[in-house]
Amino acid sequence: MLPPQLSGIAYGGDYSPEQWPVEVQEADIALMLEAGVTLVTVGIHTWALMEPAEGTYDFDWLDEIIDRLHAAGIQVDLATPSVAPPAWFSYAYPSALPVTRSGQRLGYGARQSICPSSPDYRRAAAALVERLGARYAGHPAVVLWHVYNEYGAPQSECYCDTSRAAFHTWLRARYGTLGALNQAWGTSFWGQQYGAWEHIDVPREGPTAVNPAQRLDFARFTNDELLACYRNERDILHRLDPGTPVTTNFAGTINGKATDLWTWAPELDVVANDNYLTAERADNHIELAMSADLARGVAGGGPWLLMEHSTGAVNWQPRNIAKLPGQMRRNSLAHVAHGSDSVLFFQWRASLFGAEKFHSAMLPHAGTDSAIWREVVRLGTDLRGLAEVAGSLVRTRVAVIWSWPSWWALELDWRPSADLSYRRQLDLYYEALWREHVTVDFVAPGADLSQYSLVVAAHTYLLSAEEAGNLAEFAASGGHLLVSYFSGIADEHDALHPGGYPGALREVLGIGVEEFHPLRAGETIMLTGGHTGQVWSEPVRSAGAEPYWTYLDGPDAGHPAVTRHAYGDGVAWYVSTELTVAGLRELLADVLAGAGITRPGFPDTVELVRRHAPECSYLFIINHGEEAVTVPVDGVDLLDGTRREKEIKVAGGATAVVREPA
Ligand code: GLA
Repeated sequence: MLPPQLSGIAYGGDYSPEQWPVEVQEADIALMLEAGVTLVTVGIHTWALMEPAEGTYDFDWLDEIIDRLHAAGIQVDLATPSVAPPAWFSYAYPSALPVTRSGQRLGYGARQSICPSSPDYRRAAAALVERLGARYAGHPAVVLWHVYNEYGAPQSECYCDTSRAAFHTWLRARYGTLGALNQAWGTSFWGQQYGAWEHIDVPREGPTAVNPAQRLDFARFTNDELLACYRNERDILHRLDPGTPVTTNFAGTINGKATDLWTWAPELDVVANDNYLTAERADNHIELAMSADLARGVAGGGPWLLMEHSTGAVNWQPRNIAKLPGQMRRNSLAHVAHGSDSVLFFQWRASLFGAEKFHSAMLPHAGTDSAIWREVVRLGTDLRGLAEVAGSLVRTRVAVIWSWPSWWALELDWRPSADLSYRRQLDLYYEALWREHVTVDFVAPGADLSQYSLVVAAHTYLLSAEEAGNLAEFAASGGHLLVSYFSGIADEHDALHPGGYPGALREVLGIGVEEFHPLRAGETIMLTGGHTGQVWSEPVRSAGAEPYWTYLDGPDAGHPAVTRHAYGDGVAWYVSTELTVAGLRELLADVLAGAGITRPGFPDTVELVRRHAPECSYLFIINHGEEAVTVPVDGVDLLDGTRREKEIKVAGGATAVVREPA
């Protein structure tokens, strides 16, 4: 549920008036109105102001700020400040500071210096949220509650004694008996059988590889502890202010390995996501689209909120490259294209001090006589023109599996190759689909797949028998399934599916593999059709599948490299090496055609995404290239108000949003 008071595409960002004198705060409001700002997030890092000493509260300053915003008609996303406990808290409760895997207790002076299992932390956060919630419940300016800030990014795991005890409680709830735990963890290996819960350690650094099942469960436990912290605050806000939705902002594809968002999805009233470009990556608008598609997937296909992105450079990458003119506009409109009903930034006004003073903002250090400010004002006008897009939905027939347990497990110690990377593989398949103008939904491996024609499972290393059955059932009932190597290998405890590779997917893929043949660093091998593979090769044997491309050299010369298996009413494809984006696109041409999905055939610098409303649809045409592109349309470009009856020419770097009849 989006906040019912929001109308159109919300515009604004994180606002930290506490860093500025009152004259600047007053000037801020006038400038926000000039830019068309409608929503700001307030309070994220203000615990020390709200509660200057334990049990002593002060909200007068916040009243003033919220009242000032309200008087100007600007809505407030009010944050609980639990991401940054005050100095007095860490001094009084040093055991709430987190301990790293190597046993080092982290200090105070940053943010997120928190053990998520600490009862002191949870109690203190709850006490403050009780006050905050009671004071602002029903306030007409407050349309959304924002709990914490980016759970798990970067601080997630804690290996302290409190966490160890909480891990025992979690394990008892999961397994019931030590017998079940010993079985699941395969403790007969290296003689690790446990005879008492208290003997189980958190998987701290060991002399060599630690039991992978133990580490995988610790990742699940950490996710659940972070989620428990969220629920701790959310439940209070629901009780005190039942009419106002509660969210937290996800780190999504940026720093989001720790949080399995499929487990968070049902706990949020509205999904909010943050995204920052990898500044040095060429075509980083593709990873932006991926992040937005993941947010929409977590939102169950519905609209979501872009809670943070940047007008220009960030401050935390090795080289913080500024955005080029027009790039921020394309980035913002791309998030809307992929389903966001907001364009919000970190941050409203650039700080003069602190760790993030070199981070861009809507209002830069240079002030209003700046290119960024002019782009910000223009974007406000654009978004007013797109108000009617809010609430419309992206629909697609292509899904890509996103599995946090696969990500966690695949990257534990002692895998067949150090070159295996869950994200690189997902990025590769996503990029190839993006360049073919295919919009994708991200889904969990156990999701209902019946609305899709094509499902892609890249490096879905970990699949329970039921999840593998879900994929097989999808193909059997007419779907087209595309699977990359090192998928279906392990079950939910990181134990291998017996009988050879690719484990739980052998039957649906119609193949068998007896041994992995990882390649040397930098080695490439030739496939038929002039294609190359890298990282991996396999002696694929057909058990019903037809070869599509074959290895010409390398350890498996003569074996099929890519196979196609008619299975039930559908088809299952298997790719046993890492193709290039170009190779994958050639393969996709056939895979997509077989699944009945047409490729529009525009240059791969053009992004095309459609949002659907009951009576019409909105075609977003974002031209990331330098050459103009002409696209057939029949409708009105909402960004310039012109009617286009046959086609629209979108200049290099420009964007059009065309309303067409349904
Ligand atoms: C994150 C945080 C923000 C800010 C930005 C900077 O996403 O949520 O508070 O630190 O990064 O890019």
